[in-house]
Amino acid sequence: MSVRDGAATMATNAGGGGGGGGTASPNDQDGRSYLLQIYPRLAAQSTTCCNLRVQKDATAASVISDAATALGLDPGRMYVLAEVKECGGEEWVLEAGDLPAQRFLLWPRKAQEQHPQSLGFYFLLQERNHDGSIHYVHLPPVTKEQQAQRLAARGFLPPPQDDFADLCNLPVLNEDSILNNLRTRFYKKKIYTYAGSILIAINPFKFLPIYNPKYVKMYENHQLGKLEPHIFAIADVAYYAMLRKKVNQCIVISGESGSGKTQSTNFLIHCLTALSQKGYASGVERTILGAGPVLEAFGNAKTAHNNNSSRFGKFIQVNYLESGVVRGAVVEKYLLEKSRLVSREKNERNYHVFYYLLLGASEEERREFKLLPPEEYFYLKQQNFKIEDEEDLRHDFERLQQAMEMVGFLSATKKQIFSVLSAILYLGNVTYRRKSTGRDEGLDVGPPEVLATLSDLLKVKEELLVEALTKRKTVTVNDKLILPYSHSEAITARDSMAKSLYSALFDWIVLRINHALLNKKDMEESIPCLSIGVLDIFGFEDFETNSFEQFCINYANEQLQYYFNHHIFNLEQEEYQAEGITWHNIDYTDNVGCIHLISKKPTGLLYLLDEESNFPHATDETLLAKFKAAAPGEQILCPHTGHGACLRHSTLCRESQISNQGFPGKEHRPHASRHCGVVAE
Ligand SMILES: Nc1ncnc2c1ncn2[C@@H]1O[C@H](COP(=O)(O)OP(=O)(O)O)[C@@H](O)[C@H]1O
Ligand SMILES: [Mg+2]
Repeated sequence: MSVRDGAATMATNAGGGGGGGGTASPNDQDGRSYLLQIYPRLAAQSTTCCNLRVQKDATAASVISDAATALGLDPGRMYVLAEVKECGGEEWVLEAGDLPAQRFLLWPRKAQEQHPQSLGFYFLLQERNHDGSIHYVHLPPVTKEQQAQRLAARGFLPPPQDDFADLCNLPVLNEDSILNNLRTRFYKKKIYTYAGSILIAINPFKFLPIYNPKYVKMYENHQLGKLEPHIFAIADVAYYAMLRKKVNQCIVISGESGSGKTQSTNFLIHCLTALSQKGYASGVERTILGAGPVLEAFGNAKTAHNNNSSRFGKFIQVNYLESGVVRGAVVEKYLLEKSRLVSREKNERNYHVFYYLLLGASEEERREFKLLPPEEYFYLKQQNFKIEDEEDLRHDFERLQQAMEMVGFLSATKKQIFSVLSAILYLGNVTYRRKSTGRDEGLDVGPPEVLATLSDLLKVKEELLVEALTKRKTVTVNDKLILPYSHSEAITARDSMAKSLYSALFDWIVLRINHALLNKKDMEESIPCLSIGVLDIFGFEDFETNSFEQFCINYANEQLQYYFNHHIFNLEQEEYQAEGITWHNIDYTDNVGCIHLISKKPTGLLYLLDEESNFPHATDETLLAKFKAAAPGEQILCPHTGHGACLRHSTLCRESQISNQGFPGKEHRPHASRHCGVVAE
């Protein structure tokens, strides 16, 4: 170490960028001398640097001279001093009269204390060429992200958040960053993330201990975003917004089949009733809790995507008094998938309730409802028929019975319901044979023991049943015609009877639940109520071939998406404009074209289908011609043998079947009313 002119103190420090600046303190007592670390940039890369203690007014020329000496460089050569700030990609060559210490004082505090090369702020001693020019070597280009990373690594910026609770706070917003953020959070068991006031939930497919009453309490009356995202926060915001603004609220849940909509609905309803409970569970809450398992047993089934897939849509409206106490609730159901009753894709099951009943019923109940083993029913039989969860199903039957009691089904009513369920299964075992005798073109229906059982279970005379299963009644202007079914028509009639029966049973159960949920007093006196609605529909589905029901399910999802777009993009942007906020409209994929194609009056595909179904001689080909004429630009494909027309549309599922045969057109409506009539008798 040597001292020269009192201008600088030097020390060499070998051993790499991370080494730091020797033992000298950064500032002298008098506050006027500073420790600089100077790195030589020589032909051979070296990490040796010298630590120089310099006065505030020491010039670059004097610092260069001291540094060259300290580093043992050839004093006959010429050098320049450059200030390097990697974060800005800057390398600034100082003039001889510039004051390095002044520059250094502008660096971040941490870099002033110690500035090894690795911190990104340092001085570089460089040789000058013979002609006086500097052999300037550019630093490798640094991207903004690398820069941010380096700054954070060096402690100049707070460490980058590796996940964001609200997507709106993402520094870079694109599909990749959104998905990465959701993935990072998911791996940390954070399944919920906000996008503003929208909550994104990722199905964990396992129990997380974040739904107990402690959490309801924790999220109570908190502004959205204050705490970690949670489904209870959404319920809480809706509840307090309703109370504060005295305006009804609605929570819309959307997502693919199996993504967790129904589970989320259950959590919401749980929280919405718990928030108002104030310590005790009233009758209404008990009924709401019981309604869930009953609706699930009758309306859910095991599918390829979800072991407990809802095959119907529902809107649950919880009514509150203005004080916030739960008053009652209403359930509305949409589109139960009826085709599942008689057929389904392989590895899928019929509605849960059939398996619950067949495996869970006691010996006495088996006799009473004349139950058979599951594999003996045509409607349950399918490829690879195997039931592996017998124990669970038995338990579920008990749970169902308990829930039915909670919604007010008495023992006699339960028996009636189970009888109808058993009858529906027996209907599938009805068979037809062409009459062999004479010129009679009718059908023999059997087997006799199945018909007798059906008559017994449904409490309908066997003759009436046989007639309904074999003959069609047609009413014309002047006449009433009774015509025998062909073999295939009879099978359709039988299946259609089973579907109508189940659907009517389901509607009746929903009606009974609503009676139990509604507060009788409200119907008598008109008490002012507020409400929160939760919409849980069936999610998007896309199979190899999609039936008419998938088409309807996906259409309902398109409508929901439209509603969402309208609120999130259109209305929001209109509000910004009205408030005079400078704003560039956001482009988004508008699905209104798809909705118009399907349902706009009078040329929407659904209207055309309805219209065509009323023509006695309509076929799949005539229907297709109509579709093509109405929507020439769309890719509507040729008829699908035996299944009707096939529709392709980019935003809908890949391929949907639309057929004159497959849905409630001219052929099936009379059946439905007639079956209900037969059963009512
Ligand atoms: N938050 C959650 N925590 C634990 N499991 C969940 C959660 N959400 C969904 N699941 C699981 O995923 C399955 C499918 O969810 P579900 O709500 O039925 O889907 P969807 O109604 O969207 O078709 C549920 O049966 C449940 O096992
Ligand atoms: Mg569901």
